[in-house]
Amino acid sequence: MIRLGIIGAGAVAHFHAESAGRISNVQLAAVCDLQRDAADRVASPRGARIYTDYLAMFREAGLDAVIINTPHALHLEMVLAAAEHGVHVLVEKPMATTVADCDHMIQACRDAGVALVIGQIQHFLPEKLAAEDVLAGGELGRVLMIRDYRTTDYRPGTRPDWFFSEAMAGGGALMNIGGHCLDRSIWFGGAPVESLNASTLKRFGVPVETDGAISLTLRNGVHVSVVVVSDAAQRMDEVLIVCERGTISCSPHHGTLVRANGTTRTVWEPLPEDIQEGFFLQLQDFIKVLDGGTPKVSVDHARHIVEVVLASYAAARTGETVVPDGMNAELTLSEVP
Ligand SMILES: NC(=O)c1ccc[n+]([C@@H]2O[C@H](COP(=O)([O-])OP(=O)(O)OC[C@H]3O[C@@H](n4cnc5c(N)ncnc54)[C@H](O)[C@@H]3O)[C@@H](O)[C@H]2O)c1
Repeated sequence: MIRLGIIGAGAVAHFHAESAGRISNVQLAAVCDLQRDAADRVASPRGARIYTDYLAMFREAGLDAVIINTPHALHLEMVLAAAEHGVHVLVEKPMATTVADCDHMIQACRDAGVALVIGQIQHFLPEKLAAEDVLAGGELGRVLMIRDYRTTDYRPGTRPDWFFSEAMAGGGALMNIGGHCLDRSIWFGGAPVESLNASTLKRFGVPVETDGAISLTLRNGVHVSVVVVSDAAQRMDEVLIVCERGTISCSPHHGTLVRANGTTRTVWEPLPEDIQEGFFLQLQDFIKVLDGGTPKVSVDHARHIVEVVLASYAAARTGETVVPDGMNAELTLSEVP
């Protein structure tokens, strides 16, 4: 039996806790949150112990693995503590707020011999899996271009305060929401980012960016355009993949549509349980890693997303084209998750 803990019992914790209940060899043993009642809401229905101090949880709860769902800048200290206690880690996206923090985590987990997996949920959402299948089937040929448009809401009061703190969140809409777009676009595009241009907006008087547009060229020549807009008239969350012989439109709202030869077919109809299913598949993948498997999403890919978001901030600040540097230089196409 794998004894699992959770740190951070806010919005996303319920999806993880629910997933744990569906895996027979996983027991949710402990939940930690600074707010005892938040921890209680996740822990009590499942008979898990409650903590308000994650170090005490690591010392006392006999955990094999932990899921970390806390403000972005806290991921580092919690991953390091998990590694120190020999506990395997699934940490929510974004992995960290700096590339140095990502590297620190990777090294610490490697040294401690514990798994480090990042919750890049896009790779497990049913409508994205449907697109992955179509691309793998080859009928549409190579991916040539991707347009990713997602709306969000970064008006004050729309989410917990820490999301509006650059120190805690590492940025605003691009770091939080744009990271999902980059995740899936780089994945579907099939190569790391070669160069990018970007612009950001700070609206509604909040201190982090509320909107952003990134124009990217991947190392295989695929062009990607990511646009994140706050408080738009219409809710959008669409990645449109343009291939040699057709297009795929993928969204949690309308599912996955394939257009080729003048006809459209639906390969995934959205279901209300799709998001929960994605979290379940993600946790299942993590548990497989604890049994010696390879994670679906590499830590290098998760690190690259942080690197690209930070590069987009630099590009927006300077108005110049930025080449994200780093260790992805040696990644080959087949190694990109
Ligand atoms: N994969 C997804 O689709 C998805 C969706 C939402 C959030 N997230 C990510 O999950 C993480 C958490 O986001 P959220 O929306 O659940 O945030 P949230 O603010 O709702 O929850 C965070 C919780 O962490 C707790 N916390 C803060 N500091 C702590 C500490 N030192 N010890 C213990 N608990 C502490 C807070 O009290 C709060 O309850 C972030 O990384 C976010 O980007 C991912």
